[in-house]
Amino acid sequence: MVQIVDIQKGRHTGGSIELRGWIHRTRTMGGKAFVVVRDATGVVQVTIARDAVPPDAFAAADKALIESSVIVRGTVAEDKRAPGGYEVRATDFHVVHFAEKFPIQEDLSEEFLLDVRHLWIRSQRMTTIFRVRHTVFDAVHEYFRGQGFWEVSPPMITPAGSEGGATLFELDYFGRKAYLTQSWQLYAEAIVLAMEKVYYVGPSFRAEKSRTSRHLTEYWHAEMEQAWVGMDEVIRHAEGVISHACQRVAEERPDDVVALGRTPEFLKAVKPPFERLTYDEALKILKSRGIEIEWGKDLRTLEERALTDGKTKPIVVTHYPRVSQAFYKARDPKHPDLVLAFDVIGGDGVGEVVGGSEREIDLETIKTSLVEQGEDPKAYEWYLDSRRYGSVQHAGFGMGMERLIQWICKLEHIRDAVPFPRTPARASP
Ligand code: 4AD
Ligand code: MG
Repeated sequence: MVQIVDIQKGRHTGGSIELRGWIHRTRTMGGKAFVVVRDATGVVQVTIARDAVPPDAFAAADKALIESSVIVRGTVAEDKRAPGGYEVRATDFHVVHFAEKFPIQEDLSEEFLLDVRHLWIRSQRMTTIFRVRHTVFDAVHEYFRGQGFWEVSPPMITPAGSEGGATLFELDYFGRKAYLTQSWQLYAEAIVLAMEKVYYVGPSFRAEKSRTSRHLTEYWHAEMEQAWVGMDEVIRHAEGVISHACQRVAEERPDDVVALGRTPEFLKAVKPPFERLTYDEALKILKSRGIEIEWGKDLRTLEERALTDGKTKPIVVTHYPRVSQAFYKARDPKHPDLVLAFDVIGGDGVGEVVGGSEREIDLETIKTSLVEQGEDPKAYEWYLDSRRYGSVQHAGFGMGMERLIQWICKLEHIRDAVPFPRTPARASP
């Protein structure tokens, strides 16, 4: 059994091979059937000549509809006219399962393709993205482990949120209220006092009604937390992990990258340091471009677009106003109105890929912030123990894996960064 990617790399030219896959396209002309077969790694044209295979094999090839599963035996030849430049000249063609008429034909609406997502994920575009996603996940784990971080696992069912009540998914936990996790934040701050350098990649949930091209209600979150360091050190890890993912994708999947509309060179140039500016500097730049926003307001898509316009690397914005920021973010000792928080912002409309901060370590300050934000400090008692027993400076961040993949793959919509997207409008298939 061979993989199509190896045929397309010329590794089987002249050889006899056997290959398994699904019919991607098919047509019969004269005494020849031209069947484009796909497997997990790509597509290749199989030519079945009536006189080169047993009679029932030709009849099967002629009759089989797209998405039928097949096993092909044949020899590999170079052929400029075939997609990818190689073709398999069949000596035998066996249909494992004759597919019914496939519901996805040409020119279907976006909504319909989401209804039949379980079939649309077979498309070349989707499988190309999945391969890049695979490499990005591997690179993120490799980066953190290589930097001496321990992988730890927080719970998904939690008694309280960390990113504000508005986006919490509530669930009935045997008659009590519980929530799906928004972030591992509170658990990270407890476990960092045991393991010092920790990371995790897992799902986060946001009951976010905003229908945008960059919000999911369920997304994969890569989070890290580190003891004994401040904001600058973790910004360096944010740059490091993004750069490492870009390098790995560029090296391992250059053809996939090109198929998606990026170039390996573009990704290879994503090296630290990224351009840094403070929130105040960002406001000045925006003002000079005619975009005026009230001090304290978060940067919206429009502003993030303006700041990243023409940039080939993500940028880092630091020192946000304290108003409307999560209670755990450390106050800037030099400017109590600011917090030591940062976002990494990607271009092409993807926006915030990473959000992080140094953490407030003063017990009373955190309690006050919780009250200010309408939370009951009692619900956070266990968390506040991290400020009672050996509190140390610490900082961390969360990175949206789909946002990173969206940026790397230059996807218009975040839903294509994940096989089965969850958005306000749909939770199926
Ligand atoms: O900025 P956020 O809300 O930060 C936190 O949750 C922190 N507790 C993380 C930490 O410091 N450990 O979320 C972090 C990242 C965002 O920058 C964004 O990339 C992604 O998570 N994200 C989403 N991705 C897809 N859909 C959504 N609805 C997202 N909300 C956040
Ligand atoms: Mg954020």
